[in-house]
Amino acid sequence: MRRPKISVIGAGFVGSTCAHWAASKELGDVVLIDINGESAQGKALDLFEASPVEGFDSRLLGGSDYALTAGSDVVILTAGLPRKPGMSRDELLATNAKIVKECSLQVARHSPQSILIVVSNPLDAMCHVAMNASQFPRERVLGMAGILDGARFRSFIAMELGVSVEDVQAFVFGGHGDTMVPMPRYVSVGGIPLMQLLSPEKIDRIVDRTRKGGAEIVNLLKTGSAYYAPAASAIQMAEAIVRDKKRYLTCAVYLKGEYGVQNLFCGVMAKLGAQGLEGVPLLELNREEKVMFEKSAAAVKELVDAMSKLGV
Ligand code: LAC
Repeated sequence: MRRPKISVIGAGFVGSTCAHWAASKELGDVVLIDINGESAQGKALDLFEASPVEGFDSRLLGGSDYALTAGSDVVILTAGLPRKPGMSRDELLATNAKIVKECSLQVARHSPQSILIVVSNPLDAMCHVAMNASQFPRERVLGMAGILDGARFRSFIAMELGVSVEDVQAFVFGGHGDTMVPMPRYVSVGGIPLMQLLSPEKIDRIVDRTRKGGAEIVNLLKTGSAYYAPAASAIQMAEAIVRDKKRYLTCAVYLKGEYGVQNLFCGVMAKLGAQGLEGVPLLELNREEKVMFEKSAAAVKELVDAMSKLGV
């Protein structure tokens, strides 16, 4: 049986950490691509040389030539600039749109059947760029954000309660920006609804910290944005796909009327398996959640419109 092939575009911190986790989980063979081909080659070789010690068995290649990625099953697109302290994700729009477009064209040329996981920011808008450039159907273009935002939400809840993160189930809907919609009503801690464990004030504080979770890391790192949690989240999506796990995971999906949103990427619960997006289970949203979700979708729409004005 042929081994799955996973390509990671962009060998910066997020990309190389994706390669690390994909290889150590033995998801398949891994190709790391970067405009700085030697750096990608060096990182792939270094990681391969860790494999006899760590005992994982993945072939790893790196370079700048997309021919290396030919026939990939999953491509994780991390290329683009990260934000600096004080910047919003949206300020990266024009620069990253050009980069993501170029990379997506190359991916589509060399791996026309692949499933594309977009990580570059501003995330939801970059999913549009990737879908337009690749011409892939919505089943094969997904954005990584919901798992990351959900992971931050889960981490802060676990910290507050002093319980294991393993027992905290939580997710975040909406765009990957300041308007994201953490869903406390759906949080369970070992099966117990969060509302029974924490006061509304404490929950509000955690929701707010979750919304600003990316900026919190940017402000600490000073030179770039988060990478461990973003990479882990992208790899969870890749794993659901290459192992055909049929998982329910939140990610950016091109909505075609679900939750009243048409032709727009936005974060929702999705079923992921070998075909990529295999379904959009519809959750019941109360009035408040609906209003917040619509506001978040409107913020994504604004960015997508801004892109078409910029001609990208
Ligand atoms: C974050 C960036 C990667 O949320 O969007 O950390």
